[in-house]
Amino acid sequence: MKAIILSGGKGTRLRPLTYSGAKQLVPVANKPILFYCIENIIQAGIKDIGMIIAPETGQEIKDTVGDGSRWGVKIKYIMQDTPGGLAHAIKTAREFLADSSFVMYLGDNLIGTGIEKFVDEFNRNKPEALILLKEVDDPKQFGVADVSENGKVLRLIEKPEVPPSNLALVGIYIFSPKIHDAIEIIKPSKRGELEITDAIQELINMGCNVESFVLDMWWLDTGKKDDLLTANAIVLDEWLKGSINGAVDSASRILGRVVVGRNSVIKDSTIRGPVIIGENTTVENSFVGPHTSIGSNVRVIRSSVEHSVIMDETELSNIERLDESIVGRRVKVVENRRSHKALRLMIGDDSVVEV
Ligand code: G1P
Repeated sequence: MKAIILSGGKGTRLRPLTYSGAKQLVPVANKPILFYCIENIIQAGIKDIGMIIAPETGQEIKDTVGDGSRWGVKIKYIMQDTPGGLAHAIKTAREFLADSSFVMYLGDNLIGTGIEKFVDEFNRNKPEALILLKEVDDPKQFGVADVSENGKVLRLIEKPEVPPSNLALVGIYIFSPKIHDAIEIIKPSKRGELEITDAIQELINMGCNVESFVLDMWWLDTGKKDDLLTANAIVLDEWLKGSINGAVDSASRILGRVVVGRNSVIKDSTIRGPVIIGENTTVENSFVGPHTSIGSNVRVIRSSVEHSVIMDETELSNIERLDESIVGRRVKVVENRRSHKALRLMIGDDSVVEV
């Protein structure tokens, strides 16, 4: 079995972060989301991975991920020149996939489980497709499944105005080569894309066996701010193992599971886990609260920060309380010490500042 990971897309819902980088490389617990996808695929025993990239962010993905040797696998890059949809991405990868069955993994999806049991089930039962479903509150934003009482998939519909159920299609699928025939039949959707949802519907129309599983663990499509903060909190909660590799002075308190990276310095501060702090970072006279990820080369001085993601090379200084925030790279959030009270901002397009 092979795998393709989709790492294109514009990431409009994560702007402004995605003006300067790929959405799949946004960090969750200081690790790019994409790395969780790669590691999940490898854990299922798959060593042949195709990474579908787009012209805008492809180079950054290549530079960050490399050729796969750090994980002992082969990663081949496949350029999708136009954003033609998920089924179009499979078409683009046709030569790489040859006649193999494959996992398709959307590079911004995180799930709270390995995928080996689904791969095993697929290999045992040999359906033409295996899809994962998850109950959601807002099915209109997803592909939605209509499933019979005995679990048979009756119908799939992409972003329906009137959803037939609250079961969303998770962005992880397993296909036999039959999917290529279905993709040849479908036409572009209203948003002008070749939808994988329509191709799977076509398999159902052909009378093929499409298996589904309803996930009972968490699934996050990290394309939005709140989802990203939730993903960060859950990953820190469930997977973080504390380890202190930097210097913590005797006036500081470390509570719960905390990672402090190499050459980082914690002075006169309280860190209440779960918290991860990268390398070469300084935290001084500050409180870093639960569910917070702080990158490398960051300075947190006389500040308090909770439930947040602070990326590399950023500075927080004299900030009384920063909560539920995502702060990108090389940002300065500092107190304005001039006599008149005013906000002094220089922020890019699509930023959100709540004061
Ligand atoms: C895509 C699929 C949709 C699926 C979702 C999961 O949506 O088209 O069926 O539910 O991924 O993340 P998109 O992210 O393109 O809006």
